Amino acid sequence: MSALPQRRPVALVTGGRRGIGRACCVALAGRGFDILAADIAEEGAEETAALVRAAGGRFAFRRLDVARLEEHDAFVQAAWQDQGGIDCLVNNAGVGAMQRGDLLDVSPESWDRAFGVNARGTFFLTQAVARRMLEVPPAAQPRSIIFISSANAQLASPDRGEYCAAKTAVSMLARLFALRLAEAGIAVHEIRPGVIRTDLTAPVAEAYSRRIAEGLSPIRRWGSRRMWAAPSPCWRRATCPSARVTRCTSTGVCMSAASEPATPGAARMTDRRLHFEEIEPGLEWTTGGIQVTEAHLLAFAGLSGDFYDIHMDDTYAQALGYPGRVAHGLLGLALADGLKNRAQTQLAAIVSLGWRWRFTGPILVGDRLQATIRVVGLRETRHADRGIVTLAFALRTQRGDTVQEGENDMMVHRRAPRA
Ligand SMILES: NC(=O)c1ccc[n+]([C@@H]2O[C@H](COP(=O)([O-])OP(=O)(O)OC[C@H]3O[C@@H](n4cnc5c(N)ncnc54)[C@H](O)[C@@H]3O)[C@@H](O)[C@H]2O)c1
Repeated sequence: MSALPQRRPVALVTGGRRGIGRACCVALAGRGFDILAADIAEEGAEETAALVRAAGGRFAFRRLDVARLEEHDAFVQAAWQDQGGIDCLVNNAGVGAMQRGDLLDVSPESWDRAFGVNARGTFFLTQAVARRMLEVPPAAQPRSIIFISSANAQLASPDRGEYCAAKTAVSMLARLFALRLAEAGIAVHEIRPGVIRTDLTAPVAEAYSRRIAEGLSPIRRWGSRRMWAAPSPCWRRATCPSARVTRCTSTGVCMSAASEPATPGAARMTDRRLHFEEIEPGLEWTTGGIQVTEAHLLAFAGLSGDFYDIHMDDTYAQALGYPGRVAHGLLGLALADGLKNRAQTQLAAIVSLGWRWRFTGPILVGDRLQATIRVVGLRETRHADRGIVTLAFALRTQRGDTVQEGENDMMVHRRAPRA
């Protein structure tokens, strides 16, 4: 395949011919990157190329076996020569266990392969790319390095111990490079996919489908490569000039690694809330839950002075056809706001500007409420240091009924004032 004709921000995606690597290529192309895909095999690369081009990027492919360290220098040199540099490295190439089974049967070959590609090869390729990045003066565009580790960096699966151990190493690599490259303004991120439907998981798809249905993951469905292309702050952060480590839940929602142990240089990983420029339309997350109790109704009645019978008297509510007393609609709205404020995804909020809201069903004592929140609007304000985000809410019960829905406008900080 031909090289890219002229210099634009370039992302090097290892294992980019298919699967998650392909989805990374397409997502980055959609955000203005040209793509250099590196892979041990070429099959499927043409399809990736077509998708990258359709997303507005240019595409080049180079063969590389990440595990063969002796290939790295020549590869990096050629990439710099042909593409003029690499602005974003996505360390995606990876292999699973050669055979899943008893931990006591793991072979040295499978161990060496898992570590050779996933950890050793990834470390030294990153080292080679980082050295070249540091040789040149900081580019006009931000630079970044992304490590695709795995949920198995944390979750122990004894039927593929060598993979878990190697991916745990990858997770540490992300933290190490984040600290080492922070001064140079090279952002380093870790993404930990859950169970994503790709060729890697194809041999165990049936078993996973069953385990997902049984509750393996909080969201009972497969992760799909399409999520990578969905608006997500990850790729925004790929162009963020400050170093930090983030994790991805494979749901398009990033979780920050706020619990990383403090080490020198880690202080700059501070404000992990999403600021205006990191929020994209379509970003969606689900909050935790809260069970509505009788105490809630009584407290709200006392606070608001609304002791209307339908909230206080089961017999009265039953006569109207409800199973029992019905919570105040405004209590539901207040709980929705509280769920938002306790969710893992946090916006750098200044103030809430208002709500457009509908009560679509009764909230009963004992109901467990959970909100899904989606970004549906973003607009500038006359203040250069803030913006307004519109969030669409659906407040649901454990039965799946949407009992309240509407929109909330929030004023949020920008990380840097608008030019
Ligand atoms: N699919 C999942 O559920 C899942 C979950 C967690 C993590 N991951 C990780 O995501 C990454 C991508 O996985 P995927 O599901 O798309 O798998 P995949 O097998 O479809 O893609 C992996 C790619 O890496 C390439 N590759 C393998 N060894 C290589 C080497 N030595 N040098 C260069 N390229 C090499 C393969 O040719 C392939 O194109 C892997 O690191 C994997 O461990 C996947």
